[in-house]
Amino acid sequence: MAKKIKKSINWTRVLWLFVLAFVAFALLTILPHILKDVQNINYIKIIIQLIATMFLLFALGAYVYFADKTALEQTRKLFATIVTMIISYCAIWLGSIWEFGYNVVPFALCSLVLSLIVSTRTGFFANFVVIMLYFMQAINWQSNATLATENFFYILFSGLIEAVFTAFILGGQYRRIKYIGMGLAIGLVSAICAAMSYVMFVERAAWELMDVVYKLVWSFASGIVSILLMFMLVPILERLFNIVSIFRYAEIATSDTELMRQLFQKAPGTYNHSLTVANYAEACAVAIGQSAVEARAAAYYHDIGKMKNPAYFAENQFSGTNPHDAMTPEASVTMIKMHATYGLALAKEHNLPPEVQSAIIEHHGTLPLKYFYLKAKKYTDGFLPYDGYCYEGPKPQNKISAILMICDACESALRASNDVTLAEKIVDDIVKERLEFEQFSECDITMKEIDVIKTTILTTYLGIKHKRVKYPDVKMGSDK
Ligand SMILES: [Fe+2]
Ligand SMILES: [Fe+2]
Repeated sequence: MAKKIKKSINWTRVLWLFVLAFVAFALLTILPHILKDVQNINYIKIIIQLIATMFLLFALGAYVYFADKTALEQTRKLFATIVTMIISYCAIWLGSIWEFGYNVVPFALCSLVLSLIVSTRTGFFANFVVIMLYFMQAINWQSNATLATENFFYILFSGLIEAVFTAFILGGQYRRIKYIGMGLAIGLVSAICAAMSYVMFVERAAWELMDVVYKLVWSFASGIVSILLMFMLVPILERLFNIVSIFRYAEIATSDTELMRQLFQKAPGTYNHSLTVANYAEACAVAIGQSAVEARAAAYYHDIGKMKNPAYFAENQFSGTNPHDAMTPEASVTMIKMHATYGLALAKEHNLPPEVQSAIIEHHGTLPLKYFYLKAKKYTDGFLPYDGYCYEGPKPQNKISAILMICDACESALRASNDVTLAEKIVDDIVKERLEFEQFSECDITMKEIDVIKTTILTTYLGIKHKRVKYPDVKMGSDK
């Protein structure tokens, strides 16, 4: 019987986190003003601000629900989002203390950090909410004399531009070296925003060269500050909330790990298959907006369970003998199915990320083992139920597992056929079969995305099969 682990949103936890975020931001935005002038508390302003804070947090919740549901399903990611927002808010608030503070404030910290540990979409919107919360409290209380119109504009303008820039153009990078360039790019955007704010809102008669120079220099430095803070925060949040950043995926998506070295030694055929599946899966993940490095990591380890009995899997049968010939179909099914469960046990033992563990156990879903089912059917009167000849599941629970399921089967079938003219039909049939067995009924992949995956697999396959000019077998200088 297939296991069903359909993920769902724990609304009680989500509600508690919403209350936590509301209380935190209510205190952060109102308490300093109450303490400053306790005699003249403007209760109407307080109430309006509390309602506005609730609206903004509700907007964030609704956005995450519609655009990035996994963050709601995994409340640790939601918790990390709220903590990052609070830290970002405090960083902006600290900026108000010093004359050029706003310029050096890392306005895009939220989207930078969250694009690495949650998602670029949630990161961007959370960043937007933080900017709005700060902007609202700054306007509402007007108690900060240094917050001139120029700074108002700069907070909003630079905050939004930097959030979009970091989340959608720069976000999700996992090669650390790229962050140096990223810091410089954020600094440049910030400096341009600062210059525009200055020119637009400071009277021409009041322009001062040194003022402009300081603003530009500090705004440019904010890019580096953002990157440094991001490098400090990501590992802390990763540990605190047991979240896997793309840095961790990049660390394990290499042949130079203990498990991959073992796979190479014990099951070289599976090792090669996994590397090729990784190429397909990475391209497909990019094509449908999923994490390339997560897909690569999942593909590298999806068949590590085959290390237990490598000779029972076709890709490792180099001598030409197939041990299944001497086995009953039922015994073969038990043996083959075991690679998913044993793989999961190995992944747990080696502390692979939970998302990679899911991909290992889900990559065959609840599909029947067709070859052995047909072999068993030969001994019947023509009717044999599938029960007992299927993988235990669960079915893919997310898009990465769905990608892996399709790429895994396509890689094996395309390699076996080795005929470019049949490639399109092979990929079509594989997808059709998985749809008939309702393998994608528990993840939110769309038909449009499945079509993109099919096209991407074919393009990648044609890239692998490209023809090269044969080098002439002539020794250089032999005619002399
Ligand atoms: Fe497998
Ligand atoms: Fe595989």
